[in-house]
Amino acid sequence: MIAPIDVTNIRLETPRLIIRAWEESDLEDFYEYARVDGVGQRAGWKPHESIEVSKEILAGFIAGKKTFALQLKDSGKVIGSLGLEAREDGISIPESMQGREVGYVLSKDYWGNGFMPEAVNAVAKYCFDALSYDYLTCGHFLNNQQSRRVIEKCGFTYVTTVDYTTRMGTHEQTMMYVLYNPNRKR
Ligand SMILES: CC(C)(COP(=O)(O)OP(=O)(O)OC[C@H]1O[C@@H](n2cnc3c(N)ncnc32)[C@H](O)[C@@H]1OP(=O)(O)O)[C@@H](O)C(=O)NCCC(=O)NCCS
Repeated sequence: MIAPIDVTNIRLETPRLIIRAWEESDLEDFYEYARVDGVGQRAGWKPHESIEVSKEILAGFIAGKKTFALQLKDSGKVIGSLGLEAREDGISIPESMQGREVGYVLSKDYWGNGFMPEAVNAVAKYCFDALSYDYLTCGHFLNNQQSRRVIEKCGFTYVTTVDYTTRMGTHEQTMMYVLYNPNRKR
């Protein structure tokens, strides 16, 4: 079952990040990282060709209420996004259990500093402790070792590899993982 989500009034803090809903005023920060070659492609979308593209997608983030902005505490800059998506993962989980699939992207300028594990851990804790999700899933394209490391470091367990059709219409073998709520009764 797809778990309910509405990020509008959620605000989480980690040592270095504020995790909150996207706002229209984040447009320039969003375009700054989404236009860079080699970022979105790893998550299945092409770099934004203009700020108009970013504007339209940002409006979708705000309306969809399932995608967080990742904002640096020190500078206030938004450096990435983390979405709680309806699952398309091919993992067999009983219908009675509710969860979502985590998806994320970080600005290339900030790779390699542990920002995404920090964000994923905080969102997972919130989903499990406050929203009582039973599980989260997450996946990465076969050759995306950076995302693989995030998933492993956050404690997910590998389940299966599926064929995923990207928004660019390409096919990617995608390794899928699950993390169960540690509070769950077994
Ligand atoms: C995947 C991503 C979110 C990782 O975020 P991050 O905050 O950089 O994650 P980490 O700092 O924990 O780094 C993860 C691994 O990337 C590797 N890495 C770090 N910086 C790197 C760089 N500049 N180039 C290549 N690899 C790098 C390291 O091996 C690290 O693993 P380690 O901790 O075992 O050393 C980020 O690389 C990204 O946004 N990539 C493009 C979009 C994407 O892949 N999204 C996920 C779709 S499934």
